[in-house]
Amino acid sequence: MHSRVAGTGRYLPKRVLTNDALADRVATSDEWIRSRTGIAQRHIAAEGEQTSDLALAAARNALDAAALAVAEVDLIVVATTTPDIIFPSTASILQAKLGAAGGPAFDVQAVCSGFVYALAIADGMVASGVARNALVVGAEVYSRILDWNDRGTCVLFGDGAGAVVLVPSEVPGILSAHLHSDGRYKDILCVPGQINQGAVSGTPFVRMDGHAVFKFAVKVLAEVAHEALTANCKTVADIDWLIPHQANIRIMDATAKKLGLPLSKVIATVDRHGNTSAASIPLALDVAVRDGRIQPGHHVMMVGVGGGFTWGSVFLRW
Ligand code: ACO
Repeated sequence: MHSRVAGTGRYLPKRVLTNDALADRVATSDEWIRSRTGIAQRHIAAEGEQTSDLALAAARNALDAAALAVAEVDLIVVATTTPDIIFPSTASILQAKLGAAGGPAFDVQAVCSGFVYALAIADGMVASGVARNALVVGAEVYSRILDWNDRGTCVLFGDGAGAVVLVPSEVPGILSAHLHSDGRYKDILCVPGQINQGAVSGTPFVRMDGHAVFKFAVKVLAEVAHEALTANCKTVADIDWLIPHQANIRIMDATAKKLGLPLSKVIATVDRHGNTSAASIPLALDVAVRDGRIQPGHHVMMVGVGGGFTWGSVFLRW
């Protein structure tokens, strides 16, 4: 048995924060942000709007697309770095909000690689018969862990959620998954704060060595795409669409260049969404499915990279 994606969905908070509006708060400019990152705007969750609320809207959207009832979902996996609370998991909270009960629900914490990790886990569970129909969501409210006075990081991120429904299939939809981590690089991208005895010690905001992240990301994204192609006896020419983690258009372009893939085959939403961490790949996937670029039979390569450092790929036939 294999698994395939039966439907996708997304949700973006209503409030849009443009580069010009950001430039009123910190010493930056639309020109600087666009030229360095490709980002023009990002969405920001309303006060009180939680990761599970974003996940709920994206999940309903994906279930509608898959024509699947909530009662038929027996596995919920949420990839997030910004859970509603410490516990229970955002997946359990989402389960209750959906009105589902009984099946397993848990979060995956692999930062911006979270969605490929979550999809790989759900694929394994569906393919092995442990679960039947799985809801896999990437959802984030990064705006809550940004230092809005640090222009080096606050311009990069946004909030949002993307979701897919996985169902069993006799022919493979998901062809392979390859996951990696190297904790020696844990300090180049992190939120090093700790909660202890009711207080936060250390910083609860994103800290990043931008140059180190850039170099590492381009190297491992290209490597993990090659790893997937080799495992499937395919070449770069077989990739119809590359959906990289939407960190920064320069990282995405450099990855495509390293692979020898035309930029016209790269799905990019970072200009409108910013970097939404674990939500970025399912958001971009949903955009490309709904606008008709991704068609049945197409080969889609999703590659994620993020704090940890973690990285991975999911390669699938649509
Ligand atoms: N607006 C204006 N100036 C800025 C801003 C800003 N928002 N941020 C930094 N600067 C300044 C710096 O202070 C520095 O000024 P100085 O020369 O007077 O010291 C100057 O711009 C150049 O700074 P650099 O850090 O060298 O800028 P760079 O061209 O490398 O761009 C960036 C920074 C965009 C972060 C780049 O390093 C990058 O793309 N890194 C990849 C990291 C990334 O995309 N992270 C996203 C999260 S990671 C992930 O999702 C896996």
